[in-house]
Amino acid sequence: MTDTNDELSRRAARVMPRGSSRATLYVPPAAPYAVRGEGAVVTDADGHQVIDVNNNYTSLVHGHAHPGVTAAAGNAAACGSAFGLPTEAEVALAEQLDARFGRDLRWRFANSGSEAVMMALRAARAFTGRELVVRLAGAYHGTYDQVVAPEEPGVPRPAREATVLVPQDDEAALHEAVQVHGERVAAVLVDLMPNRAGLRPVSRAFAEAVRREADSVGALVVVDEIITYRLGLAGLQADYGLQADVTTLAKIIGGGFPVGAVGGRPEVMACFDPEQPRAIHWGGTFSANPVTMAAGSAALAAYGPDEIEALNRRGEALRARLAQAGLEVTGRGSLLRVFPDDPTGAWWELYRRGVLVSVNGLIALSTAMTDEQLDTVGVTILSVLG
Ligand SMILES: Cc1ncc(COP(=O)(O)O)c(C=O)c1O
Repeated sequence: MTDTNDELSRRAARVMPRGSSRATLYVPPAAPYAVRGEGAVVTDADGHQVIDVNNNYTSLVHGHAHPGVTAAAGNAAACGSAFGLPTEAEVALAEQLDARFGRDLRWRFANSGSEAVMMALRAARAFTGRELVVRLAGAYHGTYDQVVAPEEPGVPRPAREATVLVPQDDEAALHEAVQVHGERVAAVLVDLMPNRAGLRPVSRAFAEAVRREADSVGALVVVDEIITYRLGLAGLQADYGLQADVTTLAKIIGGGFPVGAVGGRPEVMACFDPEQPRAIHWGGTFSANPVTMAAGSAALAAYGPDEIEALNRRGEALRARLAQAGLEVTGRGSLLRVFPDDPTGAWWELYRRGVLVSVNGLIALSTAMTDEQLDTVGVTILSVLG
């Protein structure tokens, strides 16, 4: 027997600040507790069931407990969940990613997207011998000091000062930031459709300017595809014709387990080569653990070009439906975002009526959803926000 939502939140309030361990899951007065997930449906501790279009912040592209992914993870765990040796599973996932990107890259795995971003920027700084990172204002890249919002408390000044912010799609501001700082710029870091900034794709002209400006001063282009990778076999960058020097991945590539990855040009990734005299010494006790790697491989194997296209089409149809009814809705393919006037109130109302979205209105579809469930999601969102 599990405690009810109220009992669990009372227990949590005694042992965690405001009863919460993830800022992104906090919804006042306290979030309900998940007990079980099957396909597109989550059951909470009160027995209430919701159709899940949060999908753990976009990471569960096949919904919950996908049989192939669960079997892969279970089999791997039964053979030992982590070793003081590498395993074939990490080689296989790196090969799979290489094939999906279709170019010669080198990979390193981590345990979260934040860690992947940290690793990518460390590589950019080591490769260029410079410190500054130019990035988009309002975009979220995880919890690493150099990429959190400038007003975030607890960040050392040097980390804050090593970042230059430019507004999305403002080519003049990008030009000025890169040219003023010139040979101090290690990287331009960009998410081509930053969720926190509104989930609007950057303009093609801006994406071209990122490459042009970075090249003009010998800086690297780091593309954060941690959310957007689900939109295409080689992420969203392929659609822009932009080849990142370093790409960060996470979320869907772990099949629902903690993961991060950095993929980059061989000469940049050589920074991690342990035989190099000035190698970046990066370990990670659970990095590339075989359970995550096997689950990730199974999830990606079941998410090829046909599945990606089909899921994106379903997302476009939902977006068109919501937009036709007058809602402001952004995003692309299987990623959508709505903007309620009262996000907390709307979140609870949707939840009560059986739909789980992200607290900031982000919605991510999964291949586990039936057409009927998708229709229910559309009807419910329109009845709450329309
Ligand atoms: C674009 C982007 N980058 C980085 C991160 C950080 O990933 P993680 O939460 O796995 O640390 C996120 C998380 O939502 C993200 O959306």
